Amino acid sequence: LWLALGIRKRKPGEPPVENGLIPYLGCAVQFGANPLEFLRSRQNKYGHIFTCKIAGKYFHFLCDPFSYHAVIRQGRHLDWKKFHFSTSVKAFGHDSMDPRHGYTTENLHQTFMKTLQGEALPSLIETMMENLQSVMLQSDTLSPSKDRWDVDGIFAFCYKVMFESSYLTLFGKDLGNDKNAARQEAQKALVLNTLENFKEFDKIFPALVAGLPIHVFKSAHSARENLAKTMLAENLSKRENVSDLISLRMLLNDTLSTFNDLSKARTHVALLWASQANTLPTAFWSLLHMIRSPEAMKAANEEVKNILESSGQRVNPNKPQLTLSRQDLDNMPVIDSIIKEAMRLSSASMNIRVAKEDFLLHLDNQESYRIRKDDVIALYPQMLHFDPKIYEDPLTYKYDRYLDDNGQEKTTFYREGRKLRYYYMPFGSGVTKCPGRFFAVHEIKQFLVLVLSYFNMELLDSAVKVPPLDQSRAGLGILQPTYDVDFRYKLKTQ
Ligand code: HEM
Repeated sequence: LWLALGIRKRKPGEPPVENGLIPYLGCAVQFGANPLEFLRSRQNKYGHIFTCKIAGKYFHFLCDPFSYHAVIRQGRHLDWKKFHFSTSVKAFGHDSMDPRHGYTTENLHQTFMKTLQGEALPSLIETMMENLQSVMLQSDTLSPSKDRWDVDGIFAFCYKVMFESSYLTLFGKDLGNDKNAARQEAQKALVLNTLENFKEFDKIFPALVAGLPIHVFKSAHSARENLAKTMLAENLSKRENVSDLISLRMLLNDTLSTFNDLSKARTHVALLWASQANTLPTAFWSLLHMIRSPEAMKAANEEVKNILESSGQRVNPNKPQLTLSRQDLDNMPVIDSIIKEAMRLSSASMNIRVAKEDFLLHLDNQESYRIRKDDVIALYPQMLHFDPKIYEDPLTYKYDRYLDDNGQEKTTFYREGRKLRYYYMPFGSGVTKCPGRFFAVHEIKQFLVLVLSYFNMELLDSAVKVPPLDQSRAGLGILQPTYDVDFRYKLKTQ
């Protein structure tokens, strides 16, 4: 009967199991409503590890941060590729990028590292800084003035500025002759269309990951198709200053894969999504929390002033050419902490590995548990980020939480007197850690430095509450706000 109902019975040595009340879905509905609450209540009941059936699969949730290492160090029993590659296929509709399926021999991971980190980073940052200033001050995206306040939602503002700037940074510009106004307009229209299509597609992203077919969602489906069309090689090849990331992917798509043109384009859509979907809400939370906190504003303004002074730069909105070296960006502990704290409070990614075979998982407390082949092992770092034994008063935004007594980056955190190796994981962990994380943090720092340098900013309602997190994306990264918060800005008079 157990088998007929698809219900698992706990075997000796296995973690406690919860099959949920609904066949197939199991605990999916309760988990989906509020994952943090669900996991905490099961942790209280069962301890460090327990198993839940979710949408036909058995998930072992490992909740003890001192045992995270057992999963993150990627032993031979664990696989990450199957889940990640199949999720990408479900969401973006390209052929499988898993070399084991035979459509490509590319080592994607290596491509990402090579083109987003190390020597590739300075030129990305430089282009991003130029694009940010051009979008904020020279294009008609904002058209700010010294004499007039402009009112906007903070999320809407971040969306406009960050999307356009980083899209142009990664995918280049189709300008041809710079002075050609018609070309400029076409370029602007392309960016706006891409933004609208991205938004429409991004809305249903969680449903696609959950396994629903895209055909169910008419407008999101056509949005994804439109995005793919703009990423066909015939269109991308017209663009100038395309980043190494995209040009290398184009080359490898053409040389190492048997994808057709549309499938190739869809792989670029996947990168557009990866580069924007988490960055946009992170920019929002960072800016919102900073504006809400007078102490954070004061400390950040001081840091920006010092950095600009030490490199002899003056702020001039009529000639917006501020530059920040990688060293400058790495030397901003206050703004770094402002961003980290914003991500701590809004990140809800899930780190997933799949068991390649039956094996014994050893926890930090010397206990071992039997795991069955094809079961999923999941870490949910939001439990860490909101743990009051690690972060005192965890629901409160403290801009200096990641600063030590000397005002430098704080890297030692404890739980019940024991030093933690893992205390902050918005970028995932181990082999699947985000390869774009350095660029992501740098671009958000650049964004904050620039808004602080060029604009006076105020909340419309100075007592406004922080909007709740939209839980529909729980498990997928940085959560969005359930509603936007209005602010006003105008150019500073120097
Ligand atoms: C993967 C977070 C920005 C490129 C990931 C993963 C996380 C993450 C948690 C791993 C997902 C998993 O375990 O399956 C973030 C956050 C960002 C950010 C919080 C911003 C604040 C970026 C940017 C880029 C990027 C700006 C590129 C320009 C990627 C790529 C992957 C990835 C390509 C897939 C890596 C692979 O499968 O090998 N990101 N990301 N991310 N991210 Fe990011």
